[in-house]
Amino acid sequence: MKIAVIGTGYVGLVTGTCFAETGNKVTCIDIDADKVEKLSAGEITIYEPGLEKIFLRNLKEKRLTFTTDLAEGVKDAVIVFLALPTPPGENGAADLRYVLGVASQLGKLLTDYKVVVDKSTVPVGTAEKVQKAIAENFKGEFDVVSNPEFLREGVAVDDFMKPDRVVVGTTSERARKIMTDLYAPFVRQGNPVIFMDEKSAELTKYAANSFLATKISFMNEIAQLCERLGADVDMVRRGIGSDERIGKRFLFPGIGYGGSCFPKDVQALVMSSEEVKYDFKILKAVEQVNELQKLHLLPKIREYFNNDLKGKRFTLWGLAFKPNTDDIREAPALYLADALINEGATIVAFDPEAMPNVKKSVGDRISYAESQYDALNDADALIIATEWSEFRTPDFEIINSKLRNKVIFDGRNLFDVKYISDLGYHYESIGRPI
Ligand code: UGA
Repeated sequence: MKIAVIGTGYVGLVTGTCFAETGNKVTCIDIDADKVEKLSAGEITIYEPGLEKIFLRNLKEKRLTFTTDLAEGVKDAVIVFLALPTPPGENGAADLRYVLGVASQLGKLLTDYKVVVDKSTVPVGTAEKVQKAIAENFKGEFDVVSNPEFLREGVAVDDFMKPDRVVVGTTSERARKIMTDLYAPFVRQGNPVIFMDEKSAELTKYAANSFLATKISFMNEIAQLCERLGADVDMVRRGIGSDERIGKRFLFPGIGYGGSCFPKDVQALVMSSEEVKYDFKILKAVEQVNELQKLHLLPKIREYFNNDLKGKRFTLWGLAFKPNTDDIREAPALYLADALINEGATIVAFDPEAMPNVKKSVGDRISYAESQYDALNDADALIIATEWSEFRTPDFEIINSKLRNKVIFDGRNLFDVKYISDLGYHYESIGRPI
């Protein structure tokens, strides 16, 4: 099948590459000429484990091409994916400027039937708006389909190639047939392609992310209770997670969720609810809990250092909002670092992938180390903000020899409390006994 993907950001690039991988001929279109040039030359523009290899292979086989020319890019395509940014606009609602702008340009370019697919996370009713924007200029036949993406950064290729489910919102039989054929290779194990109307598909995406964020904030509140009652959140997590109705996954407490999706989507669903005069009470609480959780370690650190952080030097392991990504959008680590710096402390950080991005955004407000151990030199405490695998079983002898005090504040519960206490550390984590 011939496919066009408009927008070569995170979702667009993964989508384009993975569709090429199943034999389709994919043209990715972007207005950023510099990016298109890099991608065409085989230089991948995002960090995503496993993507580069299939990106290069499909580029070489010419199943994957890049252009800035929208007309040329969509000319022969049967399916046109819109993978465009939907940043939070004023008041938190998703800004549809890019999506509708491109839809209106498409209207001027189309000459034959195409399925135009919203891949970006867009508010309920967007498919209808895209339909109208195209129809203003194109009087022929076309369909607009909502096909939200559920991939996670860090495991995007696997999530895309073997999705738990594919959600397709369309009421057109013609579009349904095309989407069924497109996704057939991805659901060979029997996972469903769930067809529904456009609005339900759009809401499904927000509901999924909001539900997952709710699970996290709920566990973060249970962790708060555990700290006050002397219970252990790890035990409670295992105790409830083995009930299949609850499920084991996404019950890990920490210093809050971040990234480009959960914070934005929760906020956008609250806003869209308000627009239809519904007060989404649970979600407002989910947001509020997450805001507080990002700084959950701060009072513990203050208390340990007698409310005086001036001149203290802290090692920060982890800057990305989660492991296996260089993405620092809404990263809890940066909120915590900022708060500590504002109280007079200095931060020496190490992150396996995210340091270049942090340097670009906050410059030398934070110092950066060459390795996780170099970051420890003469520090008053180690703080852990992201659960990169390489932080899980560190060499405690090296840590001992470098840290000034045997003190660890762990925002991701990496270590066994007893083990680390037996090593003589003052160890504080989330929702577990000290
Ligand atoms: C999330 C969803 O999981 C994807 O299904 C969705 O497609 C994507 O958003 C999106 O809308 O594009 P992502 O933001 O890549 O994916 O990251 P997650 O792995 O879901 O983690 C989100 C945040 O939750 C991270 O900050 C992570 O540390 C936190 N988290 C996750 C917890 O605090 N506890 C957990 O148990 C799980």
